[in-house]
Amino acid sequence: MRTAIYPGSFDPVTLGHWDIIQRAEKLVDRLIVAVLHNPTKSAAFSVEERVGMLTELVAPFSNVQVASFHGLLVDFAKQQGADCIIRGVRAFSDFEYEFQMALMNRKLAPDLETVFLMPKEKYSAVSSRFVREIGSMGGELKDLVPEQLREAIVKRLAEGQG
Ligand code: PNS
Repeated sequence: MRTAIYPGSFDPVTLGHWDIIQRAEKLVDRLIVAVLHNPTKSAAFSVEERVGMLTELVAPFSNVQVASFHGLLVDFAKQQGADCIIRGVRAFSDFEYEFQMALMNRKLAPDLETVFLMPKEKYSAVSSRFVREIGSMGGELKDLVPEQLREAIVKRLAEGQG
């Protein structure tokens, strides 16, 4: 059985992330969308909120699970018996960081492959950072976040930091 981990901050999940999830689930038997629990980095949405939103989103897919993890990604991947890590690359500017992270993860876990997937071009400029910024200033989040989560994301960002 092929298992992949799709890790990230997902603060919050965007349509770009959702595009990658839908591409990745077709390639493997089990996909684990893994939210990094990073106590040193302040986030707009709590880990529980992020896991909750992702869980709602992936509900139609029986082969997709959502989890959170602490510490090294390769350790979590090993615990889950994962064969590969999925990362989305939107533009060339993402590549250097992603390339370095993939090589470092390979150094730590030589058998764990990183697979890069590209979302649709229309999501090239979509990022959680822009969603947070636009949402917190009352801007329109249509076409940036999944429709079924939009109201909750707008409300949460309007409330400010949690
Ligand atoms: O959505 P992001 O913030 O770009 O995701 C980054 C993430 C969570 C994939 C990365 O920071 C990560 O894997 N962190 C876990 C700690 C770790 O394994 N660090 C070594 C990376 S080479």
